[in-house]
Amino acid sequence: MNPTGICNLIIILGISGDLARKKIMPTLWTLYNKDLLPNNSHVIGFARSNLTVASLRDKVTPHVNLKNEAEQVKYDRFWMKHVEYVRTGSGTIDEQYASLNQLIKDKYELKFARCNRLFYFALPPHVYSDVAKAIKHNAIAHKGAWTRLVLEKPFGSDLESSNNLSTQLSALFSEDQIYRMDHYLGKEMLQNILPFRFANQVYEPLWNRKSIESVEILFKESFGTYGRGGYFDKFGIIRDVVQNHLLQALVLVAMDEPSTLSAQDVRNQKVKLLKSMRTLVKDDVVLGQYVGNLRSAKHEESRFGYVDDPTVSNSSQTATYSLTILHIDNDRWRGVPFVIRAGKAMDLNQIEIRIYFKTYPNLYSSNDNGEDPQNILIMRIQPNEAILQRMRFKRPGIENELLESTMSLIYSDKFKNADIVDAYERLLLDIFQNSQVNFVRTDELEEAWRVFTPVLHQIDAGEIKPYHYEFGSSTLKEGDALLIKYGLIGLI
Ligand code: NDP
Ligand code: BG6
Repeated sequence: MNPTGICNLIIILGISGDLARKKIMPTLWTLYNKDLLPNNSHVIGFARSNLTVASLRDKVTPHVNLKNEAEQVKYDRFWMKHVEYVRTGSGTIDEQYASLNQLIKDKYELKFARCNRLFYFALPPHVYSDVAKAIKHNAIAHKGAWTRLVLEKPFGSDLESSNNLSTQLSALFSEDQIYRMDHYLGKEMLQNILPFRFANQVYEPLWNRKSIESVEILFKESFGTYGRGGYFDKFGIIRDVVQNHLLQALVLVAMDEPSTLSAQDVRNQKVKLLKSMRTLVKDDVVLGQYVGNLRSAKHEESRFGYVDDPTVSNSSQTATYSLTILHIDNDRWRGVPFVIRAGKAMDLNQIEIRIYFKTYPNLYSSNDNGEDPQNILIMRIQPNEAILQRMRFKRPGIENELLESTMSLIYSDKFKNADIVDAYERLLLDIFQNSQVNFVRTDELEEAWRVFTPVLHQIDAGEIKPYHYEFGSSTLKEGDALLIKYGLIGLI
């Protein structure tokens, strides 16, 4: 029988791990359930552990929500017909990938004319380079099929290590085969930043230093890092979320309009913006580390400080909170501070972009200096996506009083039946569709590390120490002096 048709192999390396169990497999199931996976898609889990499809399924199922019996039946079919587990042999890494290749040839390439291969690296970053090499030498697709690699952050830990990894990867695979995943780029509100800015005529004329006083990216999580110390203690909050997720949000807010929405044009504009960003300096950084809050009855975890985690040393100086102020030296933004505040173990879960507009004296000013409440545009990333505009209005009634209120577009109210897809769903589909617009390009990554690396090295050398804050705090009060230095009273 002549092989016909195309199959798509999703090869999950390290499928026994946390990411595969909690994110990748549940997302693949969701795409399958919505009939969004390309035809003839098959998952091949590849790892060293002694597993079976049934034991893998047991690990994944707690992270999946099956709504009814029909879904249950489809879920059974997904596991029975579309997932297999292959244990890496005991040979060298080249032998392991050669035997994976043989299996693909025997099982799939005899049947299908072309078998695309998507290798998902759900592996510790220190093995990325050796695994990429073994794939290149033993397991790439042929006969016109494609090979793509999906890599998860962290992409290095500073400019040098990231550049080394990029150099090793680019010697093996071309840029259009490498998908560096920053899942924030798949979130609904980040997807909305460019349309909101450029499909409307309202804000773009104001979107610059003449009208905007400052921009803030705020990230608060109400839980700590308990149990993740093994990873987090080496990285800290700046490497964990600021240099990647939050910087991506900032770049989308600040970049110029791309000439098209192609991956090339959008990412060219992002890189142009990043190149205008000044390297962060020590004076523009304040760090914090949370301590246990014995008075709070909120939840058990809040009694423990960062260093109470058994996987963290008692003397750790790793920051769980950072306030950083970035500057963009271009005509649009010169003089406008970009503030990123990010903290674990805070009072709330709240991730927002906030644009603070300047105030000028006017007919309704409360004093001659025009020191009125600021108009603030808020794009809430999560929870519960929303766009909110703080404005001044006439209070309804006979008096001519002003009041401050919010014009709001709350997604859950406005778009009741909308399917707000999970970031991983969108990004996995992008990979099948060969769309790299939501993935991080090598030069973009290099610029992102260039901005943060000198300060990260100073932090690593103990030159910037974290202040303590209690679990459940709303802010780090030691950051106020820096905000005052920039006249950012509205952020206090
Ligand atoms: P794990 O530490 O759980 O590792 C995943 C799997 O990799 C393990 O189950 C193990 O499988 C395999 N593995 C471990 N060491 C080696 C090795 N030396 N050689 C080959 N295989 C090895 O990691 P996660 O699943 O948590 O994360 C995977 C990647 O995703 C990491 O790069 C992480 O930084 C990134 N990431 C994870 C997130 C998460 O939520 N977990 C979030 C964002 C990024 P076995 O022993 O069976 O071979
Ligand atoms: C991860 C970080 O990349 O992003 C975590 O390692 C963080 O520390 C997480 O909690 C936040 O992602 P989300 O999608 O839960 O907001």
